[in-house]
Amino acid sequence: MKSLKITLVLATMTLVAVSCGPRQEASKDEASKAPKMLVLYYSQTSNTKAVAQEIATRLGADLAEIVPVELYDGDFQATIERGRKELEEQAYPEIKPVSCNVADYDVVFLGYPIWFGTFAPPVFTWLGQVDLSGKKVVPFCTFGSGGLESSVADLTKTAPSADILPGYGVRAARLDAMPKEIDQFLKAGGFIEGEYTKLEEFSEQHPVSEEEAAIFNAAVGDYPMMHAQAKTVASRVIPEGMEYLFVAVDLPRDGNPNLPPAGEMKVYVSVIGEEAPVFTKVIR
Ligand SMILES: Cc1cc2nc3c(=O)[nH]c(=O)nc-3n(C[C@H](O)[C@H](O)[C@H](O)COP(=O)(O)O)c2cc1C
Repeated sequence: MKSLKITLVLATMTLVAVSCGPRQEASKDEASKAPKMLVLYYSQTSNTKAVAQEIATRLGADLAEIVPVELYDGDFQATIERGRKELEEQAYPEIKPVSCNVADYDVVFLGYPIWFGTFAPPVFTWLGQVDLSGKKVVPFCTFGSGGLESSVADLTKTAPSADILPGYGVRAARLDAMPKEIDQFLKAGGFIEGEYTKLEEFSEQHPVSEEEAAIFNAAVGDYPMMHAQAKTVASRVIPEGMEYLFVAVDLPRDGNPNLPPAGEMKVYVSVIGEEAPVFTKVIR
């Protein structure tokens, strides 16, 4: 009996989370004034889903998923090959009808994993099906190393009529830090009330010292997709620690075909208290 009750409660919660339309608990007056917000996402391996759920819960917003008709359910290499081909040929996959109608909303939080520096192909499909004129779109994404900036540039080209607001991106390896960052992000954007910490500007870039080079190497050392050397760095104080913005260059590729093309990049690194340095994003 107890387990039946729990199942019923969970089922009700799920229905609330995925149903579309104005929140039932808001009065008619409140509902007509508040912007209607939808959190819509594509996620293959659930990282982006976790961010979408956090945002929807914090906002009390509707939540919907973009689902390809043919799932990317092969292994990693199969997904890489299929995804690369779809993006190169702009042959985006068919998707199932999305459960919420974007026309009913003022603000759409659009979430996706970064694939090859841009949003995953099912999101291209969805963008080709909808009219985002007059809508505010808040991009959010998860990635191995980075891609918020490049994907937002593509979003601006793909959905020129949308009003694209500042976005949020997080490394898959840092999902633990996401709820706190989402809290700050939603407050900074004015989507929820509460105080947030406005970060100071970075200092000027200067050549890296030995100590700063060690911080860079500690942050990127274990990441297989990076083989780089820091040249200059800027820093700023953040809550509980320091943030560094390194300008780095790729070291010789040694014939490794899996490494990205050699070039210059910006690497953001956080050092919180006594914890080991972690990189938070790379912009190539
Ligand atoms: C086909 C494919 C391409 C990817 N390309 C990139 C990339 O260009 N840059 C990056 O930082 N991460 C890349 N990733 C890593 C994903 O962005 C990361 O694992 C993401 O968190 C997956 O989100 P999901 O769990 O919501 O599907 C790629 C992953 C796949 C499967």
